[in-house]
Formats: sequence, structure tokens, C-alpha cells
Amino acid sequence: MKHVEGTKPARPSHDEQLLELLRDREGDYVSGAELADALGVSRTTVWNHVEALRREGYGIDACTHRGYRLASVPDRLLPDEVRRRLRTRWLGRTLWCYRETDSTNDIALDRAAEGAAEGAVVLAEAQRRGRGRFHRKWLSPPGANILASVILRPEVHPSLVSQLVITAAVAIAEALNALYKLDAQIKWPNDVHVGGRKIAGILAELSAEAERTNHVVVGIGLNVNMTRSELPRAVRSTATSVQIELGRAVSRLDVLAELLAQLETCYERWRRDGFAPVKARWVGLSSAVGRRVEVVSGTTKLTGLVADLDDDGALLLRLDSGLIRKAASGDMTVVG
Ligand code: BTN
Repeated sequence: MKHVEGTKPARPSHDEQLLELLRDREGDYVSGAELADALGVSRTTVWNHVEALRREGYGIDACTHRGYRLASVPDRLLPDEVRRRLRTRWLGRTLWCYRETDSTNDIALDRAAEGAAEGAVVLAEAQRRGRGRFHRKWLSPPGANILASVILRPEVHPSLVSQLVITAAVAIAEALNALYKLDAQIKWPNDVHVGGRKIAGILAELSAEAERTNHVVVGIGLNVNMTRSELPRAVRSTATSVQIELGRAVSRLDVLAELLAQLETCYERWRRDGFAPVKARWVGLSSAVGRRVEVVSGTTKLTGLVADLDDDGALLLRLDSGLIRKAASGDMTVVG
């Protein structure tokens, strides 16, 4: 099975068929002859497929006179493993998985421009040039976290895309809370924090005309199994991961499945019912509503109490003078 990329192939490859046959026996041995028969290949070819699957990380025991059995499945974002866990109707049903790429957002932007369907997802185990907001680098050790870019095509005015990004932040926080009761919160505009440390970020990039959005790529970096020593030194005191919070590694495949399920639900609710329900969830998950914050954007600094979230995603701050001012973008810190 090539772990490079793939939408659902018309016919499963021999590797996939072999895996399916082994899975069906739930850990029991299947003879080489039976596998060779079912696949219509020689026993040597079966062995070659077993080796290929092992290289992908599958634990396959081989025993003379008994055959092969599936002992373990890797926690890797392989197309087949992701698909088996998906509970969505349309999100992630087209999937491209990479061992390494420059940035999943770049691939998703290209695929979207070529006409990829809404809900298509690009995943990577590692990125050479992962990027975050404000041209910052997004660093993630290979195979530790979730690096995902989702293609969406909301029929909305480009000014409303910020609502979609907030919707995605809500979905990430809901997924972490549903799976692990992490008490994840949203730090404006769309970072997800646990215990005051950043666990996930979103970089949304869009193609739009004056009045019309063509497509949006929602890039999500979610720290799952990164250890404290793997955190880049610069963010060691301000970032975290699921593993750091729980004290144990978790299944990235489970996290991804929950994340995509929550995202599909939240996105559909936003498209159907508008921003009000998303905003209500955001307020419930926000770490700053009612608190005094400072928002720095370029050379501008605004300080005030967080009063609300505007429909364009801007933070509404009550200044000391009592005036309400909008902070459209920037870095926010709680003060006092
Ligand atoms: C941020 O908080 O600054 C946003 C980080 C977004 C990182 C993700 S990882 C997957 C996707 N590909 C990228 O290059 N960036 C986003």
C-alpha cells in the first residue's frame, strides 16, 4: 500500500485486500495458501505484500505451517486506516495522505484550484515548510501530530470566512473535550488552548472574488503525541499536546476521526443556522470573555475588557473610557 496519496481506489490493491483478509480473522492465523488463492497470486507474492505492509508499520506475525496474522495496526495517517475510522458523511471522503510535504495547505490550495470537492482533506506526517499565522513557522516532528488541510466551499461573502475559521476552532475544542475532557478553550481569534497553553492553531487561506468565495483551505495543526522535549524551545513554556496533558500517548487516528466528525457537524450547523449558535459555543469556550486583554496588531495596541465577538470574528473590547472598539486581528494576551 503506497502511503503517498489516494482517493478511494476503484479496486483495492493487493496490499489492501491482504490486509482485509487478515483483519477478517481478527488476529487468527490465515495460511499462505489461502491468501494466495484469494488474491490469485503466488505464495512468494503474498510474502512480498506482507513485507510491504510491515514497512508501512503493520505488525504481521508469520508462523511456519500456520501462515500470517495481523498483530498490530500502526497509528499512522494511512488512507485506509483513516477511512476505516471516519464517521463523517462527506468530510474526508476524498483524502490525500503524504509522508512528507512542504505544506498541506499548499497541496490543498492546488487541489481546490483544480476543482477538488468540498470536504477533501490533505494530511501529512511531516511538513518541510509548515506555516502558521503571521508567516510564522509551524514545527511538528514526523508522525507525532495532526497536520491537516480541509477544502471547503461555503457560498458566502469573503468577509464571512472568519466565521468559518471560528467554527473550526470550536470543532477542535469540542473534539478534545469530547474525547479526553481536556477543558480545551479558544483563545481569540482561533487558537485552541489547554491549561493556558496552545495545543492547536488554524491557518485559513482562501480564493475569492469581490463578492464571492471560491474555496477556503482550513489548515489545522493539532499537537497530539508530541512530548515536552520535542516542543520547539521557543514555545516550550507556551505550547502543549494531548500527550503532555494526559501523560500518555493517544491514537492520532481516533483524534482525527473525532475532529473531522465535529468539524462536519459544526460546519453544517453554521451553514444551516448561521453564526449565532457557533458564537454561543465560542463564548462558552472562550478563555477571555469578561476578562481584561491586550491586543497587539503591528504597532497598534488596544487594552480593554472582552465584551463580545462581532459577526466578522472581530473582538469587541470595552475600553476604560466605556467605548466599544473592534480588534479585527492581532495577538491577544489576558492582562491583570
Ligand atoms: C497558527 O496557529 O499560527 C496556525 C498554524 C496552522 C498550522 C497548520 S499545519 C497544517 C497546515 N499546513 C500548514 O502549513 N499550516 C497549517
